[in-house]
Amino acid sequence: MREDLDLTRVPQHVAIIMDGNGRWAKQRGMLRVQGHRAGLETLREVVRHSQRLGVKYLTVYAFSTENWKRPQDEVSGIFKLVVKYVQSELAELCANNVHVSVLGDWDALGVPEESKESLRKLIGTTKENTGLHFNIALNYGGRAEIVNAVNKILAEGLDKIDEQTLSDHMYTAGMPDPDVIIRTSGENRLSNFLTWQSAYSEIVLTPVFWPEFTNDEYEKCIVEFQKRDRRFGGHK
Ligand code: IPE
Ligand code: IPE
Ligand code: MG
Repeated sequence: MREDLDLTRVPQHVAIIMDGNGRWAKQRGMLRVQGHRAGLETLREVVRHSQRLGVKYLTVYAFSTENWKRPQDEVSGIFKLVVKYVQSELAELCANNVHVSVLGDWDALGVPEESKESLRKLIGTTKENTGLHFNIALNYGGRAEIVNAVNKILAEGLDKIDEQTLSDHMYTAGMPDPDVIIRTSGENRLSNFLTWQSAYSEIVLTPVFWPEFTNDEYEKCIVEFQKRDRRFGGHK
């Protein structure tokens, strides 16, 4: 571990926009889907390292509501990787007491049946676990999440709501907001990620493409977060 990392001040909730798989692959003359495959290896390590660091909630952006615009072979390649991930990781996730949730409309038309089955198994098998809470944002959009929350509220017949009501109807109900949102690949935007929850999140950007995001890069991002002065609108 890095010496400048303060293990007593690790963020409770880390969210990550795993970006740059395509460019990483292109740089190497590989197919984009090979970039996603390499990215999956990074994800495995990041889940493991989050546990070592003592992170309580890890939320990763795996597929956005806008990613359907991509060529069909890339989209189906990504959903095949979901199946592969569950096959290879489920035993370890259980052994490590990891609780997995999927944020987003993952049961939607268009998501392949085999991926849905894997996700159901992943959620069902880990739901009693009490360790790291690992959220996978899949077919997730921040605006869609807000609209979905409002529709749930309307269906319940509520006619007056406050911020807590909305929070309670998000996919992240009951979880703390992300302390930090890390984005790899040098892009400077949130791309519809955690629109409601990111109000006071620290944003940490790194130029590294996701397949090259090592544990040391992860720690550097946490160190960067620890240097920030979070004021939440107040002052000292
Ligand atoms: C992120 O990598 C993974 C997904 C969006 C599924 P990209 O595929 O966006 O990679 P770049 O940004 O094109 O390099
Ligand atoms: C955000 O990355 C979505 C995921 C990482 C899953 P994108 O690559 O889709 O975002 P844009 O298009 O660059 O904003
Ligand atoms: Mg991208």
